[in-house]
Order: sequence, then structure tokens, then C-alpha cells
Amino acid sequence: MRIGVFDSGLGGLVITKSFIETLPEYDYVYYGDTANLPYGEKSSAQILSYTIDAVKFLISQKCGLIIIACNTATSIALRYIQQRFIPEFAPDIKVLGVVIPTVETALLSGAKKVGVVATGATIRSHIYKQELLKINPDLEVKEVATPEFVQAIEKDDFCRAEQLVKSYAPNFTDVDSLILGCTHYPLLKNYFRQELPDVEVVSQDEFMGAKLANYLDRHIEIDITLSRERSYRFLVSKWNEHYQNVANKLFPDIPIEETKKNG
Ligand code: DGL
Repeated sequence: MRIGVFDSGLGGLVITKSFIETLPEYDYVYYGDTANLPYGEKSSAQILSYTIDAVKFLISQKCGLIIIACNTATSIALRYIQQRFIPEFAPDIKVLGVVIPTVETALLSGAKKVGVVATGATIRSHIYKQELLKINPDLEVKEVATPEFVQAIEKDDFCRAEQLVKSYAPNFTDVDSLILGCTHYPLLKNYFRQELPDVEVVSQDEFMGAKLANYLDRHIEIDITLSRERSYRFLVSKWNEHYQNVANKLFPDIPIEETKKNG
């Protein structure tokens, strides 16, 4: 069985790079639903339906462990998928998200005030706030939706992205940690660190690989089912040259392929 990684687009490749760098021996199938991007501005019903389709697709690709790298999809769909979909339709498959490992990492340094930037849908779900407060009910949490970042990054417009970071940064000068709660935002981490030098900027590309390794260490029963041929496949629901160029920046040797999936 392979490890499946799902994102609404190509932002999740940043997380996949962290997985592959930490655990290169496993086989990975990445699926980016570029045809339906951006998820962050869609309704919860749409996000749930796209995410179920994506999980079904990765199961059809022989993935036994699926990581929903998309924060928006994790926020809206993970609980339903883990509690309803998987037990009924694929009880042998494990599906994980990115929110819990991120929250755990953000609190490692003893933060008392935590900021979160994410898509509109993730912020509306308040999942980060809920999970942070579960661990420490005395925390102060400041959540801000930053929907323009994804558009700027998708267009490769990093001048605009830098301006946007400058305009949002003043919201977070008083927090101890700032969670970048979207797969695209690790690409902006240096701008955030420049604007907020006293804040610990929590960027998912820097710890998700170690979190997955730790999970597999603790779940030997899953680890032994995973194949190890160093095969990496990157699939998208809609291909274009721009997407290929974005992917090549992270993985110069791996082509992305368009896939036709049926529901
Ligand atoms: N990948 C999504 C996330 O991590 C953001 C991009 C989108 O809006 O689709 O939240």
C-alpha cells in the first residue's frame, strides 16, 4: 500500500517534500484537485464532497494511509471522513489531517497567545482555535482569514504576496506563535519572519515529515503494510504548464500528470 497525500492544489507538494525528505523509501501518490481550486472560498458541502471524492480516488490508487494535507479540507471534512466514511466504506484505510500536528508544534515553546492565518473556510470552522483550547484552555487565540494569499501564490505573484504579508503582519505583533494554516503559506514564511522577528512562525513544511515518521513509529501495524520502492507519482485533476512549472521548482525530475477520476 502507498502513502496518499491530498491537497486542493499544488501547495501540498511543500508538505510532500517534507515527507519524502524524511521518509524517502516509501511510495507516494500525490493528488491535487487543481480543477476545483480554491477550496478556501467554497461552501462546506462542496469541500466535503470534493474531499470524499479525493479520498476515494487515492484509495483506488492503492493508498493505505492518506494524509489530507489541505488545511481547508482537514477543517471541514476530516472528522466526517474518519468517523463516517472510513468505518463504512474503507475500514482498513487510515486518513490523517494536518491540524493536530500543527497545533502540537505551535504549543511546544509554551506560547500563551497564538495567531492563525488560513483560508476563509478554515477560519470559519474555528478548528484551530478549538484544538488549541483543548490543549490549553487559557490560551488567547487570534484567527484571521487571509484569502488573497492563495490567489497571489497561484499566480506566482510574490511581490503582491509580500505586500499582503506586510498588511496582515500588524495583527500579530503581540502573539508568541503564528500558525501558517494553509499549504500555500510555507512559501511566505520568510516574509512573515522578516515582518515579525519576535514571533515563532509555525510552518508546516518544517515538521510534517517528522510528525509522519513519529506516527509510523507508533503505528507499526500500519507501517508494515506500506510498500517501499521509492516510487513517487504526482497527479492533478487539471494539468497546465504553469502547474508543471510550480511543481518543477520543488521536484525538478517528476512530471505531474492529469488524471480522469470518476467520483
Ligand atoms: N490548500 C488549501 C489549504 O491548505 C488552500 C488553498 C485553497 O483555497 O484551495 O487550506
